[in-house]
Amino acid sequence: MATTILAIESSCDETSASICVDGSILSNHIAGQAIHEKYGGVVPELASRAHMQNILPVVSEALKTANCRLDDLDAIAFTQSPGLIGSLLVGTQFAKSLALALDKPLIAVHHMQAHVLANLIDDPKPSFPFLCLTVSGGHTQIVLCESAAKMKVLGETIDDAAGEAFDKTAKLLGLPYPGGPLIDKYAQQGDPKRFSFPEPKIPGLNFSFSGLKTAVLYFLQNAGTSQVYKEEFLASEEEKQQFITENLEDICASVQQRIVSILLNKLQTAAIQTGIKEICIAGGVSANSGLRKAFKELGEKKNWNTYIPAFQYCTDNAGMIAVTGYYKYMAKDFSDLSVTASARASW
Ligand code: KG4
Ligand code: ZN
Repeated sequence: MATTILAIESSCDETSASICVDGSILSNHIAGQAIHEKYGGVVPELASRAHMQNILPVVSEALKTANCRLDDLDAIAFTQSPGLIGSLLVGTQFAKSLALALDKPLIAVHHMQAHVLANLIDDPKPSFPFLCLTVSGGHTQIVLCESAAKMKVLGETIDDAAGEAFDKTAKLLGLPYPGGPLIDKYAQQGDPKRFSFPEPKIPGLNFSFSGLKTAVLYFLQNAGTSQVYKEEFLASEEEKQQFITENLEDICASVQQRIVSILLNKLQTAAIQTGIKEICIAGGVSANSGLRKAFKELGEKKNWNTYIPAFQYCTDNAGMIAVTGYYKYMAKDFSDLSVTASARASW
């Protein structure tokens, strides 16, 4: 008998639904929320309202594409944490209501664990134990994944996430939100060696990106002449804008190159410390073409087996919730209807 799972993701600003049968994804629909663009970041209240509007059509589309009826479902999986509480509550209440109405098991999924397990969606899949560098808008983590149910965070950011470093740089450059994909686009035409940005000296496997953000801020304020705050050198707004316009590609390439080197240097240290050669990346920033290329090249050099989820499973999506739900279903790891959403979650 096949196991069919409907999964719902609503932790931030994407409403997504997916159908998975025996661990294979049959549909993965994602409704984005353009409304946040004009505010330069996600507005939680607006995100919750947009999820309310999107959730029913997105779930209907996912069922239709998979040629699946509600009767066919064996369980409902949903993102329970972490994320924006108002956004999470929409998906959580929807999943609970459906599970109650259909009398089917409910499966609560941890969003960050699902990003890691997105690597188990398509072949070739990593074998356990593997390491995963999870890089998203809210998190930057190196995770040791011993099984689908057993994961340990070996290192994480002590301030900004890698995605934030991309998005905040983009904002300083006057690019719209979310700026990560635009930095990626401009970087492809630029020279990554043109400008040099500092690499923070953080002990162990933890990360820090706030210093880089400050360095970019001062660098732009000084129209490229200095990365430290020097009042006497501050460029006028016109000079700054002209500097950005003339050097946008090289600035993007240089900042991106530094973010990538910070990430991969720590990943390399984790691989040496654990002796593991099955290595994955995951999360929205793993869609970055510079990171993907450098990761593959490093893997070849170090003799790692490397894995990156398909684009549609890198940024927030319900496919990764569905596959995590499938492993939890097999382990009979169900939640009862009293389960509630949580903005923060321990591992
Ligand atoms: O995993 P995700 O979709 O949402 C969170 O859970 O945070 O990640 C979103 C982050 C944003 O910061 C976005 O700018 C970044 O992923 N991102 C990228 C690219 N595509 C998405 N950053 C750099 N290059 C990209 N191509
Ligand atoms: Zn995410």
